[in-house]
Amino acid sequence: MFEIKNLSKNFGGLEILKDVSLSVQKGSISALIGPNGAGKTTVFNCITGLVKPDLGSIQLEGQELIGRASHQVTRLGVARTFQNIRIFKEMTLLENVLVGMHSHLDYRSKDWLLTSSRFQQQEKQARDAAYELLSLFQLHHQHANTAQSLSYGEQRQLEFARALATKPDLLLLDEPVAGMNRTEKTGLMKEIELIRQRGVTVFLIEHDMRFVMELCDHITVLNFGQVIAEGTPEVIKHHPGVIEAYLGAAEE
Ligand SMILES: Nc1ncnc2c1ncn2[C@@H]1O[C@H](COP(=O)(O)OP(=O)(O)OP(=O)(O)O)[C@@H](O)[C@H]1O
Ligand SMILES: [Mg+2]
Repeated sequence: MFEIKNLSKNFGGLEILKDVSLSVQKGSISALIGPNGAGKTTVFNCITGLVKPDLGSIQLEGQELIGRASHQVTRLGVARTFQNIRIFKEMTLLENVLVGMHSHLDYRSKDWLLTSSRFQQQEKQARDAAYELLSLFQLHHQHANTAQSLSYGEQRQLEFARALATKPDLLLLDEPVAGMNRTEKTGLMKEIELIRQRGVTVFLIEHDMRFVMELCDHITVLNFGQVIAEGTPEVIKHHPGVIEAYLGAAEE
């Protein structure tokens, strides 16, 4: 469904990604893991048009994504969340999700959007859909509160709801459980399963190994910009190269 081939990227003479190839099966929950600075977020940035790779191809259902602007990639069915939460703190939860539905929008145009008559005339449908997405994350009771009133974990969940508002085929999550407590992590695991059941393929970056091993069907491991292993959690857990990469990183 989704395939990256021979992806390479240099930043200031440093090879950050070297000939990265990986694939994600439709309907799977897959992970990209690796030590800090391995190049994981850069892979996501290449997928979503924020970074232009030097070489390679990235295809979603046979369509090339490289060379397209972020909003085009979104329209082709890819949504993402960021390592650092990006939500509109002074807007309500419902408004945050509604803005997500207008995926071509950038942050500066949000005031225009909320006051435009087109937006205000929008059918009840959009609000119902937004409310339904909030309920998936148990946030619907707070739909009229501003996003800043939420806990850190809830703000992350609001970001997931907003990403889903673009109706993606492929959802990219960059460290979804960072800063979450154990209860929130367990909750998120169930929610990601629900997301998959709705037909969305999930590809996530995560440092929490317990979370990754329990949730994911397939894992790709990146170290110094290169794929060093891929396979099921069971294969990855016992892969000597992976163990070495993580031990090496821990000794630094
Ligand atoms: N825009 C950029 N310009 C220059 N260097 C960059 C840029 N983006 C990333 N890098 C460098 O590329 C390397 C990989 O960064 P990246 O953020 O992809 O790593 P990561 O695997 O996501 O790490 P972490 O687990 O810490 O989030 C780092 O050394 C980083 O400093
Ligand atoms: Mg990162």
